[in-house]
Parts: sequence; structure tokens; C-alpha cells
Amino acid sequence: MADNKIHTVGILTSGGDAPGMNAAIRAVVRESIINGMSVKGIQRGYTGLLNEEITDMDKHSVSDIIQRGGTILGTARCEEMKTEEGQAQAAEICKKHGIDCLVVIGGDGSYRGALALSRHGINAIGIPGTIDLDIACTDYTIGFDTAINTAMQAIDKVRDTSSSHERCSIIEVMGRNAGYIALWCGIANGAEDILLPEKYDYDEQKIVDNIINNRKHGKKHHIIINAEGIGHSTSMARRIEAATGIETRATILGYMQRGGSPTTKDRFYGSIMGAYAADIVAEGKRNRVISFKGGEVVDIDIEEALAMQKTIPEYHYKISQNLSR
Ligand code: ADP
Ligand code: F6P
Repeated sequence: MADNKIHTVGILTSGGDAPGMNAAIRAVVRESIINGMSVKGIQRGYTGLLNEEITDMDKHSVSDIIQRGGTILGTARCEEMKTEEGQAQAAEICKKHGIDCLVVIGGDGSYRGALALSRHGINAIGIPGTIDLDIACTDYTIGFDTAINTAMQAIDKVRDTSSSHERCSIIEVMGRNAGYIALWCGIANGAEDILLPEKYDYDEQKIVDNIINNRKHGKKHHIIINAEGIGHSTSMARRIEAATGIETRATILGYMQRGGSPTTKDRFYGSIMGAYAADIVAEGKRNRVISFKGGEVVDIDIEEALAMQKTIPEYHYKISQNLSR
């Protein structure tokens, strides 16, 4: 009878780095070793896999990392992995190095790479790691909490100076085509306007009217949180200033949102999800992604997970608008 037991787990981080990825790496490594498996770390995501940047890891390899932002394994975006040849080669390299299971920490793009490897016979396990919160099958992604807290603090600071100068501020937050960071910060920072790629109707006149109306009622600042997926904050600021006569400045928060020491929540879920991944591998499960659903960590078939769609919660969006009036 064939031996279906996993002997060696490979681990990589892929896509944008996210605070808490190190906690997840540490948990995968240590729990896999406890479960009797050996672990190989792959540097620089799928690029490193294709270049065979693979080293053995032990429990000491992951000492003193839980508090650090970024990922000790490094990460990359790898176009080659999107090709049939790249995927076949990546699977061959896994086999050559005795990696029978690959744990991929990243977003849904990274999961697609994992799914491709599963079709070439590698047991592929995904752990949600992205600041964007844009993976449909899970209510939580590692890194989101740290990113929104970093952004929230920065927005508070912009608000201080904006109020002092009686200016309007457009603050652009990350999230590729997803508005979750913008929505959460918009509510948490009490922004006057929140522009989400999923919802924005590109009616700038509405924003202009809102600013003029608020100013008439004595508001000294006007904070607009603009999501990266809409972008163009600087030109929007110029147009709004011209239309309202109110000084308007754009601030693009950028990569600061991806860095920094992870919050308790990101360290906690990074640890629990990482350990859970190592446990389901030891149980013999194949081609799963780890998710946080209904208050619990669960696992879902990778193909089903990638077929799911995520939408902005309507109630959150409605309240974000109600409270900013
Ligand atoms: P994220 O994982 O955060 O969503 P990306 O979408 O940039 O980030 O994906 C990260 C990497 O995953 C890509 O650079 C590529 O190597 C791999 N990837 C993305 N999409 C696919 C795909 N359709 N097939 C295979 N690999 C993919
Ligand atoms: O996926 C996380 C993220 O920070 C997105 O919010 C953003 O659009 C993207 O990565 C930026 O990617 P890069 O590091 O390749 O510029």
C-alpha cells in the first residue's frame, strides 16, 4: 500500500507581506515538528521555489520572530508561476527536494499557485496572509488588524493638522481592489466620506456638495478616505479644491501600512492558523485552505475556496454613511 503520510512540509510566503506572517511560519514549523514531520523553508515565494532557494528549518530557525513585521522567508510576485511550465517545474522541484506538502501563506493569488501545484500531485495548504482582507472564504486574514491600526493612527494625525488649517484631506489607504481597509478606517476614524472601489459611483459633485454643506455647519475639517483601487487622490484633491475653494491635500499612506510589529490579534491568529495547518496535514487532509468562519478556525477545499466571492457587508457600508453625515 502507498505511504500517504506526509514526511516533509515546505513553507513559503507569497504576494504582499503582512504582519503576523512570521507568527504563522513559526507555528507551522514547530507544530509540524511536534507532529513528526520535517520542514523546509523556501525563500522569496514561488520565485525562490523555482530557483531552489530551499533550506531545512528546525524549531530554532523560528526563534525571536513572532514580534517582527514582514516575513523572515521573504516574499515575491512571480509571473512564471502563472504559466503551465512554471507550475510543472515548481512541482518537480518540490518532488526533487522531498517536499510532499507545501504550505503557502498569502492571498488568493498565492492560493491559485497552490491550487496549480495540487493538480501536479503536491498537497497544497493555504493560510490567509494579506492586509487586504479580500479572501472570500475567510472572515479574517493575517495582517489586516495591524494594517488598519497603523492606518487609523496615521489618519488621526492627518486629522489634527487638517482641522488646525481648516482643510479638506483625502487620505488614500491600501487594499488593491478591495475596500476593507478603507471601510474599517472610515468608520474608526469618523471620516466624512469613504470611497470604496466596490461602491463608489465617481460622482465627485456629491463630495463637493458634502464638503460645502459641512463647512456651512461649522465643520473645520473634512476627511475623505479613498481606497487604493480608486486612487488618483492627488488629482482629486486639486479638483475638489478648485470646486470648493477650500484648501485640499492628499496623503497616500502607502507601504507603511504593511510594516510594523504585528498586533496581538495577528500574532494570535497567525499562530493558531499556522498550527492548525500543520495539524490537518498530519491528519492526512489534502489541498485545503485555513479559514476563520463563525468565530472558529476551519479548513475548506482549496478549489471551493477560490470559487467564492466576497462582498462588502451592506450593513457596515450603510452605517459608515449614516454616521458620517
Ligand atoms: P496575493 O497572494 O496577495 O493575492 P498576488 O495576486 O500578487 O498576491 O499573487 C502572488 C503570487 O501568486 C503571484 O506573483 C504568482 O506567483 C502567484 N499567482 C497569482 N495568480 C496566479 C495564478 N492564476 N496561477 C498561478 N499562480 C498565481
Ligand atoms: O496585497 C497587499 C497589497 O499591499 C495591496 O494592498 C497593494 O495593492 C499591493 O499589495 C501592492 O503590491 P506591491 O508590493 O507589489 O506594490
